Amino acid sequence: MDDCDCIDLYVAPTTSLTLSDEAAFAACLDDTERSRADRLRHAGARRDFIIAHGLCRLALSQRRRDILPSAWRFQRGTHGKPEVDGSFGIRFNLTHTEGLAAVAVAEQREVGVDAEFMAPEMATPATAATFCTSAELQALLAIKDDAERAKCFFALWTLKESLLKATGHGFFASPHAIECRLDPFSVHRFGNDELGKWRIWAAELGGLHKLAVSAALAARTPHLRACRITSPSGVLDGKPRIGLDAQFSEVAFG
Ligand SMILES: CC(C)(COP(=O)(O)OP(=O)(O)OC[C@H]1O[C@@H](n2cnc3c(N)ncnc32)[C@H](O)[C@@H]1OP(=O)(O)O)[C@@H](O)C(=O)NCCC(=O)NCCS
Repeated sequence: MDDCDCIDLYVAPTTSLTLSDEAAFAACLDDTERSRADRLRHAGARRDFIIAHGLCRLALSQRRRDILPSAWRFQRGTHGKPEVDGSFGIRFNLTHTEGLAAVAVAEQREVGVDAEFMAPEMATPATAATFCTSAELQALLAIKDDAERAKCFFALWTLKESLLKATGHGFFASPHAIECRLDPFSVHRFGNDELGKWRIWAAELGGLHKLAVSAALAARTPHLRACRITSPSGVLDGKPRIGLDAQFSEVAFG
């Protein structure tokens, strides 16, 4: 399989990394990223930010081995999506949430990733209404089991956010433009003509997080290569990485 057709997804459970791992990720950051990290008062949020941004730089250098992790420069798209500065054809997106950082890297196609820690207190009907259509809300509220309802809440959230991050609009676009069915989990509306242009994979990781990755189909069908990162050096070496592909399922359209 050609590297260009692969979406590389790197997932780092941040609480299982050591302080020296964190320092190695921090060493890749530029001044702007460092000062953004310094402004985060909560130690956990600071750790997750540092690991996500360090992991991103290492993942980019895994694709372009002639560029040092610290040498990457970024610019922002119209709605703030970070992009590699320069004509590399390489695309990426990152996410960080309590206890998890993840980065997706692709070539010649847009990609978006979102992960959320499944905090049960977040999964309220009022919050669901901010991103769910009325049909989705009805389907969610019909789930009797609280834990199951919370899982569906975060599955919907991460799917929608990963798609909106892939397009680069983020929440400048309305999550209500996307409508999903819960059983089986599938997307049946996305704007006027966006259905069929995307591929989406979703997973639950360690019972604590939901994660979704969206990638544009472009000229050729993309494949997901997902791995868990257990040390910063493992990103460039290709080891130690633990394959996660089996935990991801592709989300159907229609
Ligand atoms: C992009 C966005 C969806 C991220 O939400 P989040 O759940 O807080 O954060 P995540 O950890 O999943 O992702 C954050 C990363 O997404 C990336 N990102 C930022 N803007 C993005 C965009 N428009 N599209 C895709 N990715 C984006 C950045 O790398 C960011 O990392 P950083 O904040 O550490 O630099 C959200 O911030 C957004 O929609 N921003 C643009 C719109 C906006 O600012 N609206 C505010 C008023 S309407």
